[in-house]
Amino acid sequence: MKNYDIKDSSLSPEGKKRIEWAAREMPVIGQIKDRFTKEKPLKGIRVSACLHITSETANLALTLKKGGADIMLCASNPLSTQDDVAAALVSDGIPVNAIRGEDEKTYYRHINTVLDAKPHLTVDDGADLVTTLHTRRAELITNLIGGTEETTTGVVRLKALEKSGGLKYPIIAVNDAQTKYLFDNRYGTGQSTIDGITRATNILWAGKVVVVCGYGWCGHGIALRAKGLGSQVIITEVEPVRALEAVMDGYQVMPLIEAAKMGDIFITTTGDKNAIDQVHLKAMKDGAILANSGHFNVEINIPALESLTRSQRRIRPLVSEYTLKDGRRLYLLAEGRLVNLAAGEGHPASVMDMSFANQALCLEYMAKNRGRLEIEVHPVPEEIDKEVARLKLDAMGINIDRLTPQQKKYLTSWEEGT
Ligand SMILES: NC(=O)c1ccc[n+]([C@@H]2O[C@H](COP(=O)([O-])OP(=O)(O)OC[C@H]3O[C@@H](n4cnc5c(N)ncnc54)[C@H](O)[C@@H]3O)[C@@H](O)[C@H]2O)c1
Repeated sequence: MKNYDIKDSSLSPEGKKRIEWAAREMPVIGQIKDRFTKEKPLKGIRVSACLHITSETANLALTLKKGGADIMLCASNPLSTQDDVAAALVSDGIPVNAIRGEDEKTYYRHINTVLDAKPHLTVDDGADLVTTLHTRRAELITNLIGGTEETTTGVVRLKALEKSGGLKYPIIAVNDAQTKYLFDNRYGTGQSTIDGITRATNILWAGKVVVVCGYGWCGHGIALRAKGLGSQVIITEVEPVRALEAVMDGYQVMPLIEAAKMGDIFITTTGDKNAIDQVHLKAMKDGAILANSGHFNVEINIPALESLTRSQRRIRPLVSEYTLKDGRRLYLLAEGRLVNLAAGEGHPASVMDMSFANQALCLEYMAKNRGRLEIEVHPVPEEIDKEVARLKLDAMGINIDRLTPQQKKYLTSWEEGT
């Protein structure tokens, strides 16, 4: 029986070239792939992965396959699939269940199909796969060795599940590795969000007032890149330390209800619901652009936007114009879904190299430690995090200093002072 569902198999040659291009910028995954090919650490292991189906994910999937895994993929977002990449993976013997633009019913059907493979390991991005496993497919849990989670929102959901006593197998929070969030969330989301919005709108950033909602790691990157392009950046936050950091990083900080009147472009990256709510939409200028780069399409209150709307049309492929009852027009990008993936190509491969190196090494770690890990949300083992940084520096041809024995001793003792 066919165990994949993609848009069009004939797109495979284009997808292959795209995967090859990404591989050039993924030397760490490349090294892990070479080692996995020899050592086969995932031999006999079934992996079900719910990830954005992009050329970078393809390089991870091919690495896991070389490591001996039987891997199957579905999408972690209905709008982020690169259909040519999906076709290329299928032609390489990796079943993919993902079609760009799929509706919610198809999205969950695809999740269920990859679960039908009875995985030993899960890879998730946002925790939709793990949530489906825990709710509707709980009979599969006995097969599971463990899982990994790629993003902040997924980790938040899994920690809530753990706290409620409901988590049924160990999961490693890949997002929380330093070599993940400090680079992927900050530099990856920073660049790709600006890129996605530019591709969707072709706006000039210089001189625009850009309001970034949420000064987490993604917010840091987006604000930095918008500032670099000449925008005036306003940050909105709910957490005082992060708000203070934004002030000292040189941004204006204020409540969103005040920023709402000033912004030309609003970008949410809070991981929170209704970060932009009806009251803010009511205060915005005619022509304001709204984009979300947080995981789910709940950050901008779209039902509230619709309730204020008189008429709506698609003015560019990924730009919806909402003409409000009072005559103002607001522009929502990519239906409020992750703008960097829906309107662009997601993060550059060089940064996904590190995120996916963490994924590959954590899956190997879980397979090695089968049955020995507590059922909880685990951090990425420090040795893996450091190894990824070391491999990336090596690949970039950068050497660093090492502690002398005297310095090692000094840094682990208390006796020496003034
Ligand atoms: N677009 C991408 O490719 C991509 C990449 C990585 C992470 N993400 C997603 O982006 C989101 C943010 O990730 P992060 O790593 O920056 O998280 P984070 O936890 O570091 O930052 C989120 C920030 O938003 C703030 N916040 C929460 N509610 C708010 C509100 N109502 N108004 C203003 N600020 C609010 C929090 O205080 C926090 O500082 C998550 O959903 C994550 O899964 C997206």
